[in-house]
Amino acid sequence: MGNYKFLKDENISGKTIVIRVDLNSNVEDGELFENARLRKYAKTLKEMSEKNAKLVVLAHQGRKGNEDCVSLKPHAEELSELTEKEIKVLPWDSDYETAIKEMQAGDIILMENVRFHDNEEQDFSAEDASKIEWIQKIASVCQIFVQDALSVCHRSQPSVIGFTPLLPSFVGPVLEAELAALKHFDSGEKPCVFVLGGSKIKDSLYLINELFGKQKADKICAGGLLGELFLKAKGVVLGEKDKFFEEKGFNELVEPAKQVLENYGEQIVLPVDVAIMNDSDEREEISISELPKDNSIFDIGTETVAEFKGSLKGAKLIVANGPMGVFEKMDFEIGTKRVFNAISKSRGFSLVGGGDTETALEQVDFSDKDFSHISLAGKALLQYISGKKMPGLIVLQGKTSESKAEQPISEEPVAKEVPVEEAVEEPAAEEPKSEESAAEEPAVEEPKSEESAAEEPKSEESESEAPESKQPELPPQN
Ligand code: 3PG
Ligand code: MG
Repeated sequence: MGNYKFLKDENISGKTIVIRVDLNSNVEDGELFENARLRKYAKTLKEMSEKNAKLVVLAHQGRKGNEDCVSLKPHAEELSELTEKEIKVLPWDSDYETAIKEMQAGDIILMENVRFHDNEEQDFSAEDASKIEWIQKIASVCQIFVQDALSVCHRSQPSVIGFTPLLPSFVGPVLEAELAALKHFDSGEKPCVFVLGGSKIKDSLYLINELFGKQKADKICAGGLLGELFLKAKGVVLGEKDKFFEEKGFNELVEPAKQVLENYGEQIVLPVDVAIMNDSDEREEISISELPKDNSIFDIGTETVAEFKGSLKGAKLIVANGPMGVFEKMDFEIGTKRVFNAISKSRGFSLVGGGDTETALEQVDFSDKDFSHISLAGKALLQYISGKKMPGLIVLQGKTSESKAEQPISEEPVAKEVPVEEAVEEPAAEEPKSEESAAEEPAVEEPKSEESAAEEPKSEESESEAPESKQPELPPQN
């Protein structure tokens, strides 16, 4: 697996270790929502602490200038609870070098949000990043650097790449599991089927183009907004939902989507039916031929689920990213639930990733046992799979000269499909179920509470990414 050094092969007892993790979470009105990232890193940190390491943890929250770019104190509280160890936050204006030097074996400290530094969100070469004062100060009192977050390795920011010229650098256990899962993808197992949904349709378009161009994907099932975008590219008039595309500036993606269909249409599985919210506020499935409708589309229909399931048959590798519809809305989680259920039952290796996806999976009662691997990374995972440069990984392999990030795929706004005030408050009518698909539903289906139905989709990146108006540049195809 690459030219990496793994932390598991090191004796860490008594060593002071600076470890980059990713605690970036949904923080709304100062409230931190407990999540998979916190749980996973708490476990790793606890294990390392039990091996008598002294841990200096680096992480970010939000992006500078955004409301969620806040102190990591609530994160430290959560981690303290989860690890059953006292974890304090050290501010950047404190004498943290002395505090680190005075640490005892097994101690864990969390440095304050690295993005409180003006230069953390800039792209650097590893050499330049290693000259930054706060990087040097930390490195001077630590013996080892550990990278443990795939989800930041698409960045060439100081905390990601600045330590590698200064300290022996290792892959931590969480990153190791991510790389092991991605190895299946590197080896080009076939057939390889992608199931793409979610709201980052510009990222997805880019990815599709790359994946087909490099013959990495055999089929792509397009659900959610992505499926709707392709329908529009085929000339289908959606009706009410067209307004949503207009409002979000997504119409500029219709032409590129047409190009993608022209080149790879036969390998793209599109929705044949959709679920709309009818005039009685209930889920109603209609065939694509019944569009346009004055009601908005919130999910794929059960015929489409069956199509997607058919495409998954025999797949050796499945990569799933993003929900199939507005899963936060009662009765519109069905498409997501059934497609992910089919993925979980598949014999192939299932790699599931993305911020939206993780939230969706938790809300529809799946756990990490249902898939071969659930990645904590969203955009970084897409970037890796699409073959783009990963500065954070390059430096871990001892290659520092080319570590600066390529242009990010896109920094598109994430569309929120359900404004809070529109959310369903009444239980909606039963959805049509085929016997077969009903039998495959996960056993327990708690009716959702009014409260959870009214929740807005929580996408970790929805607030933090600046809208981008320029035409997406799809790479040349070979
Ligand atoms: C994430 O939440 O996707 C990662 O923490 C990366 O955050 P960023 O996109 O703000 O760099
Ligand atoms: Mg993300």
